Amino acid sequence: EEEQASCTSSSSDPPSAHFIGTKDDVVQAKRVTKLVGGRDVLVLCHLGQLHAMDMRCYHSGGPLQEGDIEEFDGRMCIVCPWHQYKITLAEGEGLYQKVNPSSTPPKPTWHSKGIKQRVHLVTEVNGNVYVTFNDSLDTIDSDFYQTERYRTIMNKA
Ligand code: FES
Repeated sequence: EEEQASCTSSSSDPPSAHFIGTKDDVVQAKRVTKLVGGRDVLVLCHLGQLHAMDMRCYHSGGPLQEGDIEEFDGRMCIVCPWHQYKITLAEGEGLYQKVNPSSTPPKPTWHSKGIKQRVHLVTEVNGNVYVTFNDSLDTIDSDFYQTERYRTIMNKA
């Protein structure tokens, strides 16, 4: 469960941070999923950078931990393995392509649906990785897949 970073005062720990694992373990695994504070989170390490977000895709609950990471429109995204929705790692924005039919030739351009996946803050303290929830009160689409109602549906399936 949760651990305090040893050796230093706990005041240096991020407030309400959830322990995920040691940095070495997270970097080596590249992706870690963990239920912390009642929420399933995915922590991943890409190009030396740590990111955290809700584990299940906002579209239909797909397992983002199995998604590829690719750049679209200059933004690093995780691609959901179920229906290939693209989600920016930094903000949780849903990106999609749209073709303007009046342009010749019709050329697809990238657009944002806004923030769809709840992304969380990752911090590193004394070689340990912590996640602090993004506690924005606005409902974000991925929240649904963290609810008791969703878990009950899944357990019955
Ligand atoms: Fe992720 Fe549909 S569940 S794209």
